[in-house]
Amino acid sequence: MQARTLRKKFIEFFKEKGHKEIPQTSLIPENDPTVLFTTAGMQPLGPYFLGEKHPEGKRLMNIQRCLRTGDIDDVGDICHLTFFEMLGSWSLGDYFKTQAIRWSFEFLTDKKWLGLDPKRLYATVFKEDKNIPQDKESIKIWKEQFKKAGINAEVYPGSKPIKGNENYRIFPLKKDNWWGLTTGGPCGPSTEMFYDLNPKKGPLQKTFLKEIDEGRLVEIWNDVFMEFNKLPNGVLQKLAQKNVDTGMGLERTIASLQEKRSVFETELFSNVIKKIEKLSKRKYKEEENQRPMRIIADHIRASVFLIMDNVIPSNTEQGYILRRLIRRIVRYGRKLGIEKKLTSELARVVISDYKDLYPDLEKKKEKIISELNKEEERFKQTLEKGLKEFEKILERLKGKKLSGEDAFYLYETYGFPIELTKEIAKERNISVNLKGFLTAKKRHQELSRKGAEKKFAGGLAGKSRKTIKLHTATHLLHQALREILGNHIQQKGSNITPERLRFDFSHPEKMTDEQIKKVEEIVNQKIKENLPVRMKIMSLKAAEKSGALALFKEKYKDKVKVYFIGNFSKEVCGGPHVKKTGELKSFKIIKEESVGAGVRRIKAVVED
Ligand code: SER
Repeated sequence: MQARTLRKKFIEFFKEKGHKEIPQTSLIPENDPTVLFTTAGMQPLGPYFLGEKHPEGKRLMNIQRCLRTGDIDDVGDICHLTFFEMLGSWSLGDYFKTQAIRWSFEFLTDKKWLGLDPKRLYATVFKEDKNIPQDKESIKIWKEQFKKAGINAEVYPGSKPIKGNENYRIFPLKKDNWWGLTTGGPCGPSTEMFYDLNPKKGPLQKTFLKEIDEGRLVEIWNDVFMEFNKLPNGVLQKLAQKNVDTGMGLERTIASLQEKRSVFETELFSNVIKKIEKLSKRKYKEEENQRPMRIIADHIRASVFLIMDNVIPSNTEQGYILRRLIRRIVRYGRKLGIEKKLTSELARVVISDYKDLYPDLEKKKEKIISELNKEEERFKQTLEKGLKEFEKILERLKGKKLSGEDAFYLYETYGFPIELTKEIAKERNISVNLKGFLTAKKRHQELSRKGAEKKFAGGLAGKSRKTIKLHTATHLLHQALREILGNHIQQKGSNITPERLRFDFSHPEKMTDEQIKKVEEIVNQKIKENLPVRMKIMSLKAAEKSGALALFKEKYKDKVKVYFIGNFSKEVCGGPHVKKTGELKSFKIIKEESVGAGVRRIKAVVED
């Protein structure tokens, strides 16, 4: 089965079960400063698990592009990826465990759908911890499912190596069977489904976790029973509604279905790998080429999609991740002996592979190619400078060993791979203090990790409330701008952090001080009037007819949410918003500037 068919079947299956397909979102979360990337299909649905009504109803599904950087060092093995696509389905306070597990089993095993052999399937469930009991309900439902396939499924007791009993199908695990975003919010126990890639070996022998580590078992689906909300102080609160969040990694599942050793051997990567083989004149089947080729293939997909989603290489946040990905491609390219232009050549292949599913790739092709070329060029220049610096270090060198600090300096400042440093040093009969290098690197990583943790831990508590206020303020600002500057004003971008809102809009010239003051006055007047904010679900047609501003029409399905602020503003929007404008207290514009021809940017704050 090809990925194309899996996509189609997944959509068809869940539509048949009454789910609506919702559009996927960007890799960069909108209006959520607490996370850098969309890491799971459920992420944009946060408010709906907590009780907000979704315009498309209670049963949803989609295919969402995701990016996770936590596993970047594992990329190169058989299954880890930074960029991947997730097949997801959700119940928002509708059906719960029984239906979810039944449907999972049906989709995986029924001949009409994936037709996997039930004898090759295993399920894990939540074991128990001091707050939450074992998920006995899921165990019971799994037993019923396996029974349908003639298997007397038993729960494996304890965590010792499994002594060959093929009925052991259900494994209670602890931390692997609890799922939620690291930033908190909706979460709950989960049940994961695993596929046996090597059934010829007979019943499982080692511990369940070992069988996963050694690549015999691969996780293909995760059903999360989201009935809790993790508060910023860590306390778990029972939600008013019980939700289901399922996610199936497209690449892993397709590799399992095709009985391939790794995701890189499926059609999702074959064209890119072929191109790398051509540029390097080396073969993927040679063991030593596999890791670098896989890293390049993964990173180029991630880079192309990040640029499609408007990220450009930089030294901060998402842009920094993109920069690292691109530089890693160039470094690993050199390891394979590729000196000529690499990233844009590979990007052309990714774009051609994915443009039918993601038409934006074709539209933004030029930009993607040019950003990649620029960054690759920049890095190559640093590489040249680094080589000169290297010569200087060698001149100063006393003895025959390059210190770990120097090697790390070359690595950190000039992006010099340690392997390259070693190679050049060897030509001069000089060795490199590898241990010293690793110590310096580790010290540096610890420092930057601490920095990152601090950044993410920084008072999440008050953050979401503040961003909601700024979101409502953005709507007020938008309408006020139209009143003062005219109806040609169109939103070009919006970004909210807990500190400020940022709003980009089309307008040919700098705003005068007078205009800025008037806009502020209108927004403050509307705050003073304490207008109610109301939401109505309506068809896109009706929304447009009512005069609501609708910015991203192609993103909306037939039903949309329209937010009304008194009679002042009407806008199609996903929310969330405050209940009454009075909550904003006061509004102030702190900056008005140009961000390109015909586009102005306003930064503004509200009082706490
Ligand atoms: N959110 C869950 C996961 O990422 C299920 O989709 O595994």
